[in-house]
Amino acid sequence: MRFSRSLVSGLLLVRGATAIDLNIDSYDSIKTAAKQVAKDLASGFWDPYSVHGVPYPTYYWWLHGAILGGMVDYWALTGDSTYNSNVTVGWLRGVSPSLDLQPDEQSFSEGNDDQGFWSIMAMDATERVFPETEAQKEMGAGFLEITQTVQNLQASRWDNETCGGGLRWQINIANTGYSYKNTISNGLFFQQSARLARYTGNATYADWAEKTYKWLRATKIVRDDFYINDGAFVPDCKKFSEQRWTYNYGTLLAGCAAMYNFTNGDDYWKTQIDSILAATYATFFDSATGAIKEIQCQDSDTCNADQPSFKAYLSRWMGYTAQVAPYTYNDIMPRLRKNAQLAAATCVGQPGGTACGLKWNVGATWDGKYGLGEQLSALEVIQNTAPFVAPVGYVFSANNGGTSKSNPGGMGTRAGIHDRFAQYLPYRLPTYNIQLADRVGAAIITIIIIVVLGFGARFTMIH
Ligand SMILES: *[C@@H]1O[C@H](CO)[C@@H](O)[C@H](O)[C@H]1NC(C)=O
Ligand SMILES: *[C@@H]1O[C@H](CO)[C@@H](O)[C@H](O)[C@H]1NC(C)=O
Ligand SMILES: *[C@@H]1O[C@H](CO)[C@@H](O)[C@H](O)[C@H]1NC(C)=O
Ligand SMILES: *[C@@H]1O[C@H](CO)[C@@H](O)[C@H](O)[C@H]1NC(C)=O
Repeated sequence: MRFSRSLVSGLLLVRGATAIDLNIDSYDSIKTAAKQVAKDLASGFWDPYSVHGVPYPTYYWWLHGAILGGMVDYWALTGDSTYNSNVTVGWLRGVSPSLDLQPDEQSFSEGNDDQGFWSIMAMDATERVFPETEAQKEMGAGFLEITQTVQNLQASRWDNETCGGGLRWQINIANTGYSYKNTISNGLFFQQSARLARYTGNATYADWAEKTYKWLRATKIVRDDFYINDGAFVPDCKKFSEQRWTYNYGTLLAGCAAMYNFTNGDDYWKTQIDSILAATYATFFDSATGAIKEIQCQDSDTCNADQPSFKAYLSRWMGYTAQVAPYTYNDIMPRLRKNAQLAAATCVGQPGGTACGLKWNVGATWDGKYGLGEQLSALEVIQNTAPFVAPVGYVFSANNGGTSKSNPGGMGTRAGIHDRFAQYLPYRLPTYNIQLADRVGAAIITIIIIVVLGFGARFTMIH
C-alpha cells in the first residue's frame, strides 16, 4: 500500500508527536532515536526463530544476516542489549548445523554474497566482542572460527580459469549467476580477508585481500576513475554490468581501510581509500542536501526488496572506516551526522508514525516507503554517529581485547560440497539452549536462557 502525498501530509500533522526527534549532539538522543528505529525494524521485519528470519518472500535470507550485523552494532554503539539474545538465536539458525553459513534450506540458491553478508556480520561480532554463549562455543559456532571457515571455503572457490581470477556470484553451477563475477561477492571476500588480517595479524589473509582487490582493479570492474561496476561476465570479464550501488563502494572502502590499518598506514591503501571516498561522495551524495541517494533506483521508484537496505551498509562501513583509518574521521563523520538527521526526519511514516522512508533528500516527510531496508538504513546511519559524542564504536583485535576462538583451518562439516544426506543431517542440531554470558570477565554470568523450540523439520527445498 502506498499513501498519497496529501494523505501523508495529513498523517504527518496528526502523528507529528510521535516523530523521531534527533539531537545529533546528544548521545541520549541518538540512543533514543536508534532504539525506536530498531524496535520498528525488529517488530516489523525480523523473526529469528523462523527459517528465513525475515518476511519471505519479499525478503530473502541474506537480509537476516544483514539485520544481525545491524543489531550487533546497535548493541556496541548504544549499549542496549535488548536484542542480543535474538541475535544469538538468529546466528545459530544461520550457522548451524553445517558450521559454514550454508544452512540446507538456503544452500542451493545461496550466493557467495549471501554467505558473505552473514560472515561479515560474524567478523563484526568478533571485532566488537559480542557475547558468545557457552552452547555456541561448544558447537564450534564462535564468530571468528566461522568467519575463518567462510574465508577458507571462498578461497577454495577462487576461480582463475576465467577472468584471471575472482569469485563467481553463485556457488552452485546450476544457477544462472554462476557466469557472473559480481563486485559484492568479491568485495565482501576482500573485506573479510582484510578484516581477518587486521584482527588476527595473519598475513595469509592480507595476501588474499590484496590479490582480490588487485584483481578487481585489473579487470576494470573497479575502473581507474573509481567508477565501480556491479560486476562482469565470464569468460573474460570484458562485458560489465554498469550499475552503481552504494554497498559496492562501501565494502571496498571498508576493506581498504582494514588493509590500511593492517599495513600501519601504507600509501597504496590510503590512495585507494581517498579515491573510493571521493567517488562515493561524487556519485551518491546529493549535492543540494548532502543526502545519500541510491541513484540506480531511488528517484525512479524501482528499487527491489534488497536495494533499500544498501545505504545501511555504506553507512556501517563508513563508520568502520572512520575507526580503523582515523585520518578519515573528520571527513566522514559530518556526512554521517548530516544523513542521520535527514534520515530521522523521514521517520514519520505508517504504521505507527515512526516508520522511516527511503528518500532522505526530500525533507521532513515520509515518502510512503515502509520496509526492512528503510528501517535498517536509518538505524545504521543514526547509530554510526554515536562515536562522535560518546566513547563507543571501538573495534578490537586478537591481541587487544578480542576473545573469540580462532580456527584457521575450519572448513565446516561439508567442506563446501552439498550432500545433505551424507554430511548435513548427522549434524542437525537438536533443540538447544542459549545462555548469554557477560561480555567482560572470565566468570560466566548467565543473564538469560532461551529454549529454542521447533528447530528442524524445515526441509522444504527441492534439490
Ligand atoms: C525475539 O524474537 C521473537 C520471535 O520473533 C519475538 O517474539 C520477540 O519479541 C523478540 N524479542 C525482542 C526483544 O524483540
Ligand atoms: C590458478 O589456481 C591454482 C590453484 O589455486 C594455482 O595452482 C595456479 O597456479 C593458478 N594459476 C594462475 C595462472 O594463477
Ligand atoms: C588502526 O586502528 C586503531 C584503532 O582504531 C587506531 O588507533 C590506529 O591509529 C589505526 N592505525 C592507523 C595507521 O591509522
Ligand atoms: C594463517 O591463515 C592461514 C590461512 O587460513 C592458515 O593456514 C594458517 O594456519 C594461519 N596461521 C596461523 C599462525 O594462524
